[in-house]
Amino acid sequence: MAENGMFLWNSWYAAAWAHELIDGKMVARTILEQPIVFYRGESGKVVALDDRCCHRAAPLSMGRIEGDDIRCMYHGMKFDSSGKCIQIPGQEMIPPKLGVKGYPIVERYGLIFIWMGDATAADTNLVVDYPPLDDPKWRGLPGYMHYKANWLLIVDNLSDFAHLAFVHTNTLGGSEEYAYKTKPVAVERLDDGFRVERWHMDADPPPYHRKVIANKTDKIDRRNIGRMMVPGIFLLDSMFAPAGQGAEKGVQVPGTRQYRNAQFMTPETRSSTHFFWNYLHDFDIDNPNITLSLRHSLEEGFNEDKAIIEAQQKVFDADPDYQMLAIRADAALSHFRWALGQRLAAEKTARTASGAQAAAS
Ligand code: FES
Ligand SMILES: [Fe+2]
Repeated sequence: MAENGMFLWNSWYAAAWAHELIDGKMVARTILEQPIVFYRGESGKVVALDDRCCHRAAPLSMGRIEGDDIRCMYHGMKFDSSGKCIQIPGQEMIPPKLGVKGYPIVERYGLIFIWMGDATAADTNLVVDYPPLDDPKWRGLPGYMHYKANWLLIVDNLSDFAHLAFVHTNTLGGSEEYAYKTKPVAVERLDDGFRVERWHMDADPPPYHRKVIANKTDKIDRRNIGRMMVPGIFLLDSMFAPAGQGAEKGVQVPGTRQYRNAQFMTPETRSSTHFFWNYLHDFDIDNPNITLSLRHSLEEGFNEDKAIIEAQQKVFDADPDYQMLAIRADAALSHFRWALGQRLAAEKTARTASGAQAAAS
């Protein structure tokens, strides 16, 4: 394990959508700079193993699934779903410890989550809880994008609603006014991240929303509640209520439409990221045109982010000494970096302690 202090190891990471593994497909994907192969065994169980044969380093993702096991197609060694070697063609004796590393997996919400750190600490209760992802009242389409940028730059981007106005004026934001006229109600600083709520009253529907509704010019009261969690999970609940009818006081205004948005930033390397997302709607859920339109609008929006974030990464690469400067709008993202820093430090302390213990025994 490349314990470089950069990544949080003891955490669940979204690693793949379940649909990527249908029909016996193997996915070779690097997570926290570790090449891993994912597949679904015959029993239905999802397996994640180091994508490197312990014999002579052939990628297991070039191998063959046999039941729940996998065979390296170089010299034929076979590994079970835990990574243990169970067959060496032409050799009777198999050293009991021979094998490759296997990783704990949880499948939930159509996502495959992987635990990269100490397997004995892999508590399945720690997998993020976001029921809309498998609630039939909500409809969406799973998405994936690859970013050539450190995951924290994407976290920063999502932590900051101010950019909606400038980066996404014609897609997700709607107007530059959004940056001036809206204020976060409060940034709630939490141990594992933050929660922020933002209202924009009596506004025009933003372009992506306008595309999927009939009453395109009716003013709306817009509320966004964002929740960011370590290591890089963003949940956004959006509500668009007919304006001026008390939505901000908790009135259930007829004609309100809502969205639920989950985004998972999983480091591939220190300078590239897997981005899994789903944007769900609660209205006209049986109209696939709406689901598709939203999917395309969001993708268009994310591509606007991607362009600027990947360009940022290049600037950082060119001058590693460059120091960012915080403005007031950065309160949430600064807190997130602090919260992650606390976790990283705790993990480092635990590692040093267990290392010292091992050395003493
Ligand atoms: S490299 Fe896998 S069996 Fe030889
Ligand atoms: Fe954005």
